[in-house]
Amino acid sequence: MEEKVRQIREQAIKVIHESQSLASLDEARIRYLGKKSALLELLKSLGTLPSEERPKIGSLVNEAKEAIEQALRSRKIVLMGIEQKQRIAAEKIDVTLPGKGIRRGSSHPLTQVMAEAKDIFLRLGFEIAEGPEIETEYYNFDGLNILPHHPSRDMWSTFFIKDDVLLRTHTSPVQIRVMEKHKPPLAIIAPGRVYRCDSDATHSPVFHQLEGFLVDNKVTFGDLKGVLTDFLRQMFGQEKPVRFRPSYFPFTEPSAEVDVACVLCNGKGCRLCKETGWLEILGSGMIDPNVFKAVGYDAEKVSGFAFGMGIDRIAMLKYGIDNIRLLYENDLRFLEQF
Ligand code: PHE
Repeated sequence: MEEKVRQIREQAIKVIHESQSLASLDEARIRYLGKKSALLELLKSLGTLPSEERPKIGSLVNEAKEAIEQALRSRKIVLMGIEQKQRIAAEKIDVTLPGKGIRRGSSHPLTQVMAEAKDIFLRLGFEIAEGPEIETEYYNFDGLNILPHHPSRDMWSTFFIKDDVLLRTHTSPVQIRVMEKHKPPLAIIAPGRVYRCDSDATHSPVFHQLEGFLVDNKVTFGDLKGVLTDFLRQMFGQEKPVRFRPSYFPFTEPSAEVDVACVLCNGKGCRLCKETGWLEILGSGMIDPNVFKAVGYDAEKVSGFAFGMGIDRIAMLKYGIDNIRLLYENDLRFLEQF
């Protein structure tokens, strides 16, 4: 009997020491201390022993039990340490590996040109105003002295939404909206999207304009020339020749279109400037007295100039882009060049 207890004890401790995982350790515990274990069987059979042997064997079994429990406890600590190390090793990340890298974007060429134009006028003391892209016929046309059956309406191929609601064909309606609400002196620029029923290599149904106007007492055509010449030189280069050409707009009188020497041939004549040596950049003029009347100003007392330019066109000329669609397709191979 004694021998048997010793054997069980030794075998149990050996198995415990050799177990490699918490799971197999738990199996060993059930096998050597569980309800069906050999030790428990022995305890149960104590009654069959002669009474003088019972205490001795009983205490041997208890000692064995304690020794096995102790072995289980210490092996458990060792195995928990090992398993934790394995888990940490498996979860390890190499923080020195190169990252995925975030690709850096840049602003769209239209955004760049718009920002540059705004900056120049802000430095000259102009303020920014905005207006809606869905306009009424009044602000887009009538208020600007473009009367219903006048042929000049054909200058703007208009997208109508309803009878008197349309997509604004230019940023000039902002002139009326601002002047209706504010008294002179005013120096305003109005950047924004405009729409025309037009589509080819140089015309997109949606494009961008920058409107500007200045109203005060005694504003002259000389002021218009000075401001626009300074703007164009900052935009295209200080040496760039600039010229003012008589033109017609219903809301300005007199009116002028402003050209800069061709960005490609600088005046010699080429395909881009249609052999003229000049590129048309903007429309301008002295604000028509009828416009002042429409906003309730006294046309005898105030005077002012206004201008409007196409930002897409300026971007195309500055960067040598030959198709306006490139500005709207968002092809990264194109955009990454800016
Ligand atoms: N609104 C005109 C256009 O779109 C441009 C312009 C603005 C001309 C202001 C004169 C004064 O063609």
